[in-house]
Amino acid sequence: MKGNKTALVTGCSSGIGYSTCLLLARNNFKTYGSVRDLSKAKKIQEVIDKEKLPLKIIPLDVNDPESISKAIRDILYDSGKIDVLINNAGYGMFGPIEAITIEDVKLQFETNFFGVIRLIKAIVPIMRKQGYGTIVNISSMVGRFGVPLNAAYVSSKFAIEGLSESISYELAEFGIRVIVVEPGVVQTNFFQNLKIKGIDTKSPYFELMKKRVSFLKTAMKNSPTSSSQVANTILHALNSKHPDFRYVIGMDAKNSIQKKESLSDRRFMKWVSDSIFQAKPFSR
Ligand SMILES: NC(=O)c1ccc[n+]([C@@H]2O[C@H](COP(=O)([O-])OP(=O)(O)OC[C@H]3O[C@@H](n4cnc5c(N)ncnc54)[C@H](OP(=O)(O)O)[C@@H]3O)[C@@H](O)[C@H]2O)c1
Repeated sequence: MKGNKTALVTGCSSGIGYSTCLLLARNNFKTYGSVRDLSKAKKIQEVIDKEKLPLKIIPLDVNDPESISKAIRDILYDSGKIDVLINNAGYGMFGPIEAITIEDVKLQFETNFFGVIRLIKAIVPIMRKQGYGTIVNISSMVGRFGVPLNAAYVSSKFAIEGLSESISYELAEFGIRVIVVEPGVVQTNFFQNLKIKGIDTKSPYFELMKKRVSFLKTAMKNSPTSSSQVANTILHALNSKHPDFRYVIGMDAKNSIQKKESLSDRRFMKWVSDSIFQAKPFSR
């Protein structure tokens, strides 16, 4: 497999990971796209074969340290270096805090947060010895502000923000860059892969949950932001000599974060609550 820079992208069976590993490979990155289940890689493999892309699909579960070690060993054997790590794998969880068990929250963090730390801890020693490397963490606009009935997911993305900001200082000393990507709502399989808790009719949160899930469903269906747009931003950041630390993607994310930064907490929280529970789109 030929290509100038070597990149590993996690979670490539669909959505942002799928678009990103194809775009990187089309732009001469020697790319390794990881999936948990190789049977989900048929569609992407057809594209790779048709376009003869420098993209190899490899098995990796971010929750399984053994699979991470093996994947990285194989990449190093094949390529001898890793220039870019894109921590993309993740899923969403919705539900009132009363309905979410500690086990649910641990599982959410296991993938969205500890999965990212596992990959970073495995790859940083390699990048440090190389004296260069870029780590891109896919956060979310909800890594910057809370939203109702989504506490486990939001907390996992806040954690990604804290992690990224903190390690960026120490890793910069060794030539390693950290970049955080904060998309708003993007049309992917995210909604189909959501774990939803506390939506039964007997739940005191039933009406709120109905509004919440319907808000997300509508936003996902109507979102003008595609996974290709996120991939393009990532490619742009990787090709920039002096990339930003944060990339906010989509008008919904830009508008919300701008409001978060300019309004008082109370006013911002009223706006979020009205938007979601009275179904006014975020972008207004
Ligand atoms: N879509 C949005 O609106 C949006 C907005 C902001 C941020 N994000 C973030 O963007 C990232 C990608 O999500 P997406 O929207 O592209 O959703 P998606 O289409 O559901 O893709 C998620 C990917 O993560 C993989 N994954 C889940 N758990 C994994 C694990 N334990 N190990 C390895 N891979 C795992 C999935 O693989 P399987 O097929 O095996 O499950 C899938 O390939 C996530 O971190 C998400 O939080 C999404």
